[in-house]
Amino acid sequence: MTKSTHSTLIVNGDIRSTPADPSTPLLYVLRNDLELNGAKFGCGAGQCGACTVLLNGNPIRSCLTTLQNIPANSKITTIEGLTATTSEFGILQNAFIEEQAAQCGYCINGMIMTAKAFLDKTPNPNETQIRKALAGNLCRCGTHSRIIKAVQRAAKQIRQSVVQEMHREQQQIKPQSKEQLSSGAVS
Ligand code: FES
Ligand code: FES
Repeated sequence: MTKSTHSTLIVNGDIRSTPADPSTPLLYVLRNDLELNGAKFGCGAGQCGACTVLLNGNPIRSCLTTLQNIPANSKITTIEGLTATTSEFGILQNAFIEEQAAQCGYCINGMIMTAKAFLDKTPNPNETQIRKALAGNLCRCGTHSRIIKAVQRAAKQIRQSVVQEMHREQQQIKPQSKEQLSSGAVS
């Protein structure tokens, strides 16, 4: 029997197949086989964070993570998937633009992916927590201070959007309750 030479991955919600050897770093597969170029090759040695993607919601260095080290059925999210599936990306992206946090921009996608995972777990962070979370992502242009401000801005806006969403949902529930009250369905 011929063994399949393809590996299967779940990337941004899609099942993707690659002929790459199991020892191939995920970064190469994303960029070369799957045409997802958001993750960048910086150092190739786990030192800079430019290649950061999410594995089941956690940031990983895709330059060091080989296919064989990715557990079956794991969900991989790249910055392209963030654009397509979450509203937070718009907020994060805008915050980086509004704070003029990018110069060359090479580190920014990795920064955003790390920030996304961080804000999911820490929606109301202080500056020290943000600095700690992003400490492993390097910016050769030296825009770290602006990047910190961008994450602070995004955190605030995400919190506001959550409150607005809750408010909207409450507004949608209210008329229903009134109807139920007038029809006697609610005692
Ligand atoms: S390219 Fe992966 S950490 Fe630098
Ligand atoms: S903006 Fe150039 S490396 Fe960060």
